Amino acid sequence: MDTDHTGGTTSTATTDIPTLIWYLSPYIRIIIGKRWIHVSGCFDQMKNCKSPSSSRSPKLNILWCVTGCLLVILAHAETPPTPPAETPANLYTRKGADTCLKCHDQDYKYPVLQIFYSKHGNRKDARSPMAQFQCESCHGPGRAHATEPKVGAQRASIIAFGANSRTSPDQQNAMCLQCHRDHQRARWTGSQHDTVNVRCVDCHTVHVRHDPVFTQDQSGICYRCHKQQQAVFARNSAHPVRQGKMLCSQCHDPHGSNAKALLKTATKNDTCYRCHAEKRGPFLWTHAPVAEDCGLCHEHHGSMNAPLLKKRAPWLCQQCHSVTGHPSISYDSTGLPAQTPSAFLLAKSCLNCHFQVHGSNHPSGVKLMR
Ligand code: HEC
Ligand code: HEC
Ligand code: HEC
Ligand code: HEC
Ligand code: HEC
Ligand code: HEC
Ligand code: HEC
Ligand code: HEC
Ligand code: HEC
Ligand code: HEC
Repeated sequence: MDTDHTGGTTSTATTDIPTLIWYLSPYIRIIIGKRWIHVSGCFDQMKNCKSPSSSRSPKLNILWCVTGCLLVILAHAETPPTPPAETPANLYTRKGADTCLKCHDQDYKYPVLQIFYSKHGNRKDARSPMAQFQCESCHGPGRAHATEPKVGAQRASIIAFGANSRTSPDQQNAMCLQCHRDHQRARWTGSQHDTVNVRCVDCHTVHVRHDPVFTQDQSGICYRCHKQQQAVFARNSAHPVRQGKMLCSQCHDPHGSNAKALLKTATKNDTCYRCHAEKRGPFLWTHAPVAEDCGLCHEHHGSMNAPLLKKRAPWLCQQCHSVTGHPSISYDSTGLPAQTPSAFLLAKSCLNCHFQVHGSNHPSGVKLMR
């Protein structure tokens, strides 16, 4: 309240439109689509709408009020669904993808439209980004970015993905983990890949119909960083990854694991048994190292010695067997009597006789010979 020169009192609230909108907004509630918008209080307010000192006629005042109300309703109607509590809604664009697509489409240097054919583009799935904040579910609120900058000024940045992005790996991953912190990512935090700042998008591609990480191209994605493994898989005896018959993810869980080397199963042998079940036994005569660790004799990826052996017999066997007699004899070319083939060295060496090397079910197979 103020005192004017005539001594009378007037209201300072000579209501201008923005103040009025602000003033009325809590009272406005109508239903648009499926959303409620307050409007009931608006009409009550209109009755008190004339300000005492206003030179405007009461009719004009009411007109202003109605316009104000309509503006409020329109503003509400364009607001996207309620954002997470910590992000104010007004940081998001009003029209979501439609706004972004004005500048980013299939002709942009980075074509984006394929995402609409992927699971992320499925608007019928309420969990998918397109059913929520659309592009901004992943790229974060983008109203500032979508606004044309003033001449000479830089466009506001937005969350971007990949190695060249200014967004930190942790923040990039957090955008994906909003929706993907399910049991399959339960061991991501602290995993080998998480601790060295590998990003979800180092392996995953999102703006495509089908993510290549689920196809035969997967190994190529892993080899970007795992060059040594690429060399090993190129050896003459190897698991058929190079031939496209096997994926790294059949043995490894790149999102984390409780086992060594991100293996899917608790032990290395359990991994091998998933496909080579016949080596599990039980055998009447078990060869102790087989039950202990296939890796005592085999490489897991690839080797120069078929089949995937760490060494060739007899040296493979003689690492452990040195009892007196034939197991302990040092076999090399000088041990070959002239023109006499040696069963201990040639062909399959020790396996010429002890060929049931993984275990025997024959009653007299104790020496693994039948
Ligand atoms: C008015 C045009 C315009 C609109 C609308 C727009 N962008 Fe951009 N955007 C650009 C331009 C131009 C660049 C390149 C900026 C640069 O190179 O510095 C860019 C860059 C990007 C990048 C790369 C990261 C970066 O900061 O360089 C991403 C991601 C992106 N926009 C996403 C979006 C999303 C999501 C929306 C919708 C919320 C959107 N853009 C709306 C013009 C626009
Ligand atoms: C599921 C999350 C996700 C959604 C939804 C999404 N993006 Fe992306 N966007 C990414 C990722 C991840 C990349 C990095 C490249 C890739 O993986 O394809 C990217 C890359 C981009 C780029 C290239 C940025 C650069 O670095 O040059 C633009 C532009 C872009 N997105 C715009 C959009 C627009 C427009 C939409 C909505 C139609 C959208 N994105 C929806 C995750 C998403
Ligand atoms: C707003 C939630 C949301 C966000 C954010 C999100 N996703 Fe998804 N994503 C989904 C949903 C929903 C599916 C479909 C799941 C299903 O069908 O079971 C999905 C599926 C996937 C799939 C499987 C695709 C397929 O074809 O099977 C991958 C991979 C994936 N998302 C990676 C990502 C990555 C990487 C990011 C971050 C750049 C990300 N997502 C961000 C919701 C999201
Ligand atoms: C080192 C590569 C790599 C990284 C990093 C990675 N993924 Fe994956 N992701 C894969 C592979 C490979 C598959 C296929 C797994 C399979 O077939 O068993 C996959 C499958 C998925 C799937 C679909 C199947 C499922 O497990 O639900 C989703 C969703 C997914 N990843 C999300 C993520 C998210 C989110 C991140 C980041 C926190 C991430 N991924 C990081 C390689 C990776
Ligand atoms: C047949 C199952 C199998 C396949 C397929 C497989 N791995 Fe492995 N990987 C293993 C086992 C077993 C280990 C060793 C675990 C241990 O040390 O006990 C391992 C170890 C690793 C290691 C740790 C260092 C090393 O070489 O020992 C890396 C890295 C690795 N694998 C990456 C890959 C990549 C990349 C692919 C796909 C190109 C792949 N693996 C395919 C079973 C497999
Ligand atoms: C962006 C680079 C990058 C990509 C892509 C990547 N990795 Fe890795 N990976 C690493 C780094 C770095 C480490 C930790 C250091 C190491 O052991 O080599 C690691 C560790 C691992 C380990 C554990 C090794 C150990 O000794 O414990 C396995 C297994 C593995 N990665 C498998 C994969 C598979 C399978 C893929 C493809 C689906 C893949 N990685 C893709 C960078 C990457
Ligand atoms: C996902 C299935 C799978 C897993 C798991 C698996 N293998 Fe294999 N393994 C194969 C396939 C497929 C072949 C190729 C068979 C062929 O070429 O006829 C193979 C071949 C082999 C061979 C013979 C190679 C040759 O040249 O004849 C050995 C030895 C072998 N695997 C050992 C292992 C060991 C040790 C493990 C555990 C670390 C393991 N495998 C885990 C599928 C698997
Ligand atoms: C004591 C050493 C040793 C151990 C331990 C061992 N293997 Fe073998 N494995 C061999 C030898 C030697 C051959 C070659 C046999 C031949 O040429 O007749 C072989 C051959 C194979 C083959 C290809 C031929 C076949 O018999 O199918 C597979 C598959 C195989 N091993 C899997 C495994 C698995 C799985 C484990 C662990 C459960 C394992 N091996 C443990 C020595 C071993
Ligand atoms: C990692 C060590 C190791 C390797 C490698 C190994 N063995 Fe054995 N082997 C053992 C052990 C331990 C036993 C059990 C010894 C016992 O019961 O006294 C055994 C038992 C045997 C037996 C039965 C001996 C008996 O007294 O009944 C024969 C035969 C045998 N191994 C042959 C081989 C052959 C052939 C190879 C090479 C293909 C080989 N072993 C590789 C550790 C190994
Ligand atoms: C020509 C066939 C033949 C070849 C080749 C052969 N063994 Fe034997 N091995 C036997 C016979 C037969 C016995 C049983 C001897 C006995 O009962 O006295 C035996 C017994 C063994 C035993 C049990 C020890 C013992 O005194 O009972 C071991 C361990 C063994 N062999 C390891 C090897 C190794 C290692 C090689 C390769 C360097 C090898 N064998 C090559 C025939 C062979």
